[in-house]
Amino acid sequence: MKVGILTGGGDCPGLNAVIRAVARRVADAGGSCVGFLEGWRGLIRGMSRPLAPDEVEPWLGRGGTILGSSRTNPYKSPDADVPRLRRHFAEAGLDALVVVGGDDTLGVAARLINDFDLPIVGVPKTIDNDLMLADFSFGFDTAVNVVVDAVERLRTTAESHRRVMVVETMGHSTGWLACFAGMAVGADYVLVPEVPIDVRHLVSALKLRRESGRNHAIVLVAEGARYPDANPAVLETEDFGHPRLGGVGALVANAIERRLRVETRTVVLGHLQRGGAPTAHDRVLATRMGLAAAELALRGRFGTVLTLRGSQIADVPLDSHALATRTLDLAFYQDAAAFFY
Ligand code: F6P
Repeated sequence: MKVGILTGGGDCPGLNAVIRAVARRVADAGGSCVGFLEGWRGLIRGMSRPLAPDEVEPWLGRGGTILGSSRTNPYKSPDADVPRLRRHFAEAGLDALVVVGGDDTLGVAARLINDFDLPIVGVPKTIDNDLMLADFSFGFDTAVNVVVDAVERLRTTAESHRRVMVVETMGHSTGWLACFAGMAVGADYVLVPEVPIDVRHLVSALKLRRESGRNHAIVLVAEGARYPDANPAVLETEDFGHPRLGGVGALVANAIERRLRVETRTVVLGHLQRGGAPTAHDRVLATRMGLAAAELALRGRFGTVLTLRGSQIADVPLDSHALATRTLDLAFYQDAAAFFY
């Protein structure tokens, strides 16, 4: 059996652990594995590399993806790119394709299954933790830990200078990352897209904190949080039409400094949150996901995508329903808010 694999969308710690597990399980079953480079672009352009288990073995603990990634969408130019993709799929002699991605990459997989019945198995990944498919996605734990490490460094300098430090996190349109990291560092306020920003409440919480003698503060802001009445300039949209997010942290810091009259600085953590080695938790989860995906491919259970409920990995049909976005569960936000001053 010949199994292809590709990784699409924003990279995420744990992708290499998935690739390693798929390559190993397929090889153990007597098959072979080929990796397509740079997400769907690799299948459109016919860019691939063999994935022998020995070669991918050392990649278990490495961040990023050995195959490269992109936000290429073959359905952006369906008349040109979809036929090219299908031709390269056939030329490669694939019996199955494992697609590792978020809602956009898996959305393309769902369309290819629906339109052409391609033998695809999906694996959800995201540092944003915003997929209905998984209670917790691999990559999320690593990203939370990056934010925690950064904020702990920022706290000592904020303390020394009695400043407010506003830290902008990723998370796309959801607040999972900001909320979990906020709880883990004991943030003095967390702003997420799911809860409208109340500047007066934010400032009065910081004021109360200061009046109680604690004269520095840490505020976490998810990049997708909407500052009231702000109309952020859209810098760029990619193939799937998503705008590049960022900048809300500066607006929040500005408002705090003006109203509280305390020196306030902003740090945008950006792509640091996607980089570096996966945590042990993410390595284990990604390895289990890779083995499960290979198993589905070997058993010919196509048109499916993996799910994680609690610690149980299962699969469901890969369709648009499965790919719904999961906003932050507000019970978590309320727990974080118990410490807001
Ligand atoms: O979806 C993952 C993510 O890191 C988001 O948190 C962020 O908004 C986006 O990707 C950034 O994408 P890019 O690397 O294309 O700027």
